[in-house]
Amino acid sequence: MPWMPRAPRPPLARMQSRRARPRALLVAGAGAAAVLLAGGCGGQSTLDTHSRQSQEIASLFWWMLVAAGIVLVGALGLLAVGYRRRGRPGLPVIEQTKQINMWLVVTFGILLPLVALVAVFVVANFTVASITDAPAQGSTAMTIEVVGHQWFWEIRYPGTPAVTANELHIPARTRINVVLRSSDVIHSFWVPELNRKVDMIPGYPNRTLLYADQPGVYRGQCAELCGVQHANMAMRVVAQKPARFRRWLAGEAHPQAPPATATQRAGAQAFAANGCSSCHTIRGTPAHGTVGPDLTHLESRQTLAALTIPNTPAELRRWIQSPQQVKPGNKMPSVALSDAALTALVAYLDAGR
Ligand code: CUA
Repeated sequence: MPWMPRAPRPPLARMQSRRARPRALLVAGAGAAAVLLAGGCGGQSTLDTHSRQSQEIASLFWWMLVAAGIVLVGALGLLAVGYRRRGRPGLPVIEQTKQINMWLVVTFGILLPLVALVAVFVVANFTVASITDAPAQGSTAMTIEVVGHQWFWEIRYPGTPAVTANELHIPARTRINVVLRSSDVIHSFWVPELNRKVDMIPGYPNRTLLYADQPGVYRGQCAELCGVQHANMAMRVVAQKPARFRRWLAGEAHPQAPPATATQRAGAQAFAANGCSSCHTIRGTPAHGTVGPDLTHLESRQTLAALTIPNTPAELRRWIQSPQQVKPGNKMPSVALSDAALTALVAYLDAGR
């Protein structure tokens, strides 16, 4: 077997700088991976599991990582062998081909990837079968409807008048049947800590199961590119102890209390006079618009514009004043309001805070 003579070693300094570069890359890559695995993207992680379904999805991920790792090591091994046994420059290609160890090629190039891919295929199929999306009739405690809009989530509790947006309250340790619809384009409902992604297709309701093994807040995110503000189509799933959830739902089902102060009354007038009610509903008032989120009990929500900004009086004011600066491309028009009208509107929407 003809071996290549080794190249003269480069000076020590050059070697060190050559070694440092891959090491720095390795450290940076490991750091990025650690951030992704530990924190997820802004507080959500598929590996921080809170249901049997998400647990099985996480297991599948580790299986696939192991399989991919074995194939990667095999491929790198082949590369190393190829490098060590590279032919002499000028040797005819046919002579070089003869030097290839067929056993190595068959093992690492064919057998190993084949076994790994078949194993992943089998495990993935078992996982998909095990986390069936549509829960069996009667196996869930309640049904909640979620409707995707560009770019917010409408949440309805059938059997009650309660309608909210971007905050999906559920009782913890309870199987919930979630019916998924879309009002415009294809969205995808995804709460990684609780279950897999399920598409929301216009005209074709889908179903999924939500179950949270403990009370907490689980971040959800639209997982299908649905337009310019797709990235700002997030939600909070708030899993509460069942008694607390029932209290929340009863409160949410109540219509909005009438404005109590002069400022709030002026705000209600501004809401009606500036066309807000043609897009938004506030239950208990003549506002019955369905284009934008239902604003009943808006003050109880933690965020505005599907988790784009926190729901504080100052941010609410900024949002009404210049919605296109806060969330460019969204469907909320900018309405020219006087300073006094803006203050009154915020007081009205925040009544009860
Ligand atoms: Cu809705 Cu992406």
